[in-house]
Amino acid sequence: MTTATRGAVGTAHTRVEGRDKVTGAARYAAEIPFADLAHGWLVLSTVARGRVRAVDTDAVLGMPGVLTVLHHGNAPRVDSDFIGMLGVPPDPSAALFQHDRVAHLGWPVALVVAETSEQAREAAESLVVHYETEPHDVAFSAGRESEGYPLDGHLPAVAEKGDLADRLAASAVVVDAEYTTPEEYHNPMEPHAATARWEGGRLDVVDSNQGTSWVAGELANLFSLDPAAVRVRSEHVGGGFGSKGVRAHQVGAVMAATVLQRPVRVVMTRRQMFSLAGYRSPTAQRVRLGADADGRLRVLEHRSLNQTSTVHEFVEPSAAAGRSMYAADAHHTASRIVRLDVPTPTWMRAPGEAPGSFALESALDELAERCGVDPIELRVRNEPAVGPVSGLPFGSRNLIACFREGARRFGWAERDPRPGVRREGRWLLGTGTAAASFPAGVGPSTAAVTAEADGTFTVRINAADIGTGARTALTLVAADALEVPTDRVRVRIGDSDLGPAMIAGGSTGTRSWSWAVQAAAEELRRSLVPGADIPPEGITARSNTAEAIGALAQKERHAFGAQFAEVAVDPATGEVRVRRMLGIFAAGRIVNPLTARNQLVGGMVWGLSMALHEEAVRDRASGGVYGADLAGYHVAAHADVPHIEADWVDDPDPDDPVGIKGIGEIGIVGAAAAVANAVWHATGVRHRNLPIRPDRVL
Ligand code: MOS
Repeated sequence: MTTATRGAVGTAHTRVEGRDKVTGAARYAAEIPFADLAHGWLVLSTVARGRVRAVDTDAVLGMPGVLTVLHHGNAPRVDSDFIGMLGVPPDPSAALFQHDRVAHLGWPVALVVAETSEQAREAAESLVVHYETEPHDVAFSAGRESEGYPLDGHLPAVAEKGDLADRLAASAVVVDAEYTTPEEYHNPMEPHAATARWEGGRLDVVDSNQGTSWVAGELANLFSLDPAAVRVRSEHVGGGFGSKGVRAHQVGAVMAATVLQRPVRVVMTRRQMFSLAGYRSPTAQRVRLGADADGRLRVLEHRSLNQTSTVHEFVEPSAAAGRSMYAADAHHTASRIVRLDVPTPTWMRAPGEAPGSFALESALDELAERCGVDPIELRVRNEPAVGPVSGLPFGSRNLIACFREGARRFGWAERDPRPGVRREGRWLLGTGTAAASFPAGVGPSTAAVTAEADGTFTVRINAADIGTGARTALTLVAADALEVPTDRVRVRIGDSDLGPAMIAGGSTGTRSWSWAVQAAAEELRRSLVPGADIPPEGITARSNTAEAIGALAQKERHAFGAQFAEVAVDPATGEVRVRRMLGIFAAGRIVNPLTARNQLVGGMVWGLSMALHEEAVRDRASGGVYGADLAGYHVAAHADVPHIEADWVDDPDPDDPVGIKGIGEIGIVGAAAAVANAVWHATGVRHRNLPIRPDRVL
């Protein structure tokens, strides 16, 4: 089933910059040439907690090409005491060299700047830093929570409705289980890279990030600059996944460019990204479900613990997703944190929902088994009429439609519910399902659309295309709103001088920008007189969606989905092979089916990877991650990925002018649970700890 389409929106379109990308004409941040460019190399701490006693700069300042060494003793001061555009303070590891404290292994302690990258690296590796070491603690485990509830910037840490103990006592069936997920890393293919320079009295930064309005605002705050004096550009981005905000590389580049008064580039190495670019916290989750014998929920309790650093509070809100999923008399969901000597975790694709859905959707499967109810029927029986905790109406909710369509296409009706009974040679076979959901958010954005004298149109919107195909989607949206073919529309993005706009994050990007682009395009169409000449400078219309989105009625706004997986398990070796996956989503109007499928399948592959491969292990002695690179950190390779299909049901958002909800993150949600539930169906063994490694299967 696909959305009924008209015009460009809803029609498959290859990426407008696709040719530039595959021919190398598209330049990424570290490839853009600058005259008189100097190169910075970050030096990271080799101890996990303590103080920097001294930095021996003299020896390296005499090395070939070395220009300066910045550290806490000489670096420009920054002001990190602010709440930025996204409602949270900056990550302290980006407020470089402001004190001598070392908060974790890999804490930035110096920046060596030289004429070439090689000279900077050699000097950085020779730099001797003396530390005063203190004992560190990096051991995450259930039951270790720090005092107090966390103060997450976006979601309440605790939501409670109904009497838990009373409703548990009234439940005929109780599932009470603990689930864990490990530290996971979201290193994009393109490492973090920035070049900073002062140009005509303005700070000009070429970067790779998820939103230049955001990054420019943070840099203006950090360096106490007039926001109009900061320009950040980021045209092509080789992946972000939540990791590409303000980090040590931009701040180091700005500091060095200020001190040296010449352009300075700082690129993170792959290994540095494992301590400077953020990651997903490990989680320890407890789920208690109480139900009648027929599976109708009386209790949904979900408590999650995540780690954060000692210098910044980050909450992986794993328990929050349950608040909108299922009806129950009593709902108790809570996030807690433990503060450790580790880097601060950050947003990583579907923060909260990805690990949270593993626990909750596994527990639902356990309940289905205990009640002898089909897992899809169980979800039908617990479908809420309104938000189960909020009581708010849903904007639109087509979860059951996803399950019905998915069941039909996956062949669910023929499934024998008994576990461990299907064999094919040495393989045990099983199938599993899980629900997915992700909030459908929107942020304020501005756009400008110009009718050019040559009959073409230029759209200016400070969007970030981090590989999603956002610029192509905006081209389709603009073409439809202008009622012209797509080849008459060009879209300019990735430049803070284009005006403020939402980031590529929280699955809100394309929706937020499309809203602004459509509004400006419609305004322009109204102001154009048919047949009249367009002056050489063109005719421009502008939009700002702040008011429109502020007036949205209070509703639970989510995208939903149903995930299906089939696995084969070799009980002799513990090997798990995923044989096929199917995801059916109700995720608003799909703008470009080609890149949308790509985005959803990418998320599902990540869910497979999360289920079977991804796990960063922290060494308690050093405080660092073992094998901190893409050789040591296992992600699914092509040979691990079977036939995966993603499709959608008709689900236009009634409150969005284009009908969009957002598809950036929902593909990963529930995918790991579907795989784990399939492994149970194949073997009869529940896996509550990810990843499902061969040694755990045996
Ligand atoms: Mo995403 S984790 O909001 O970049």
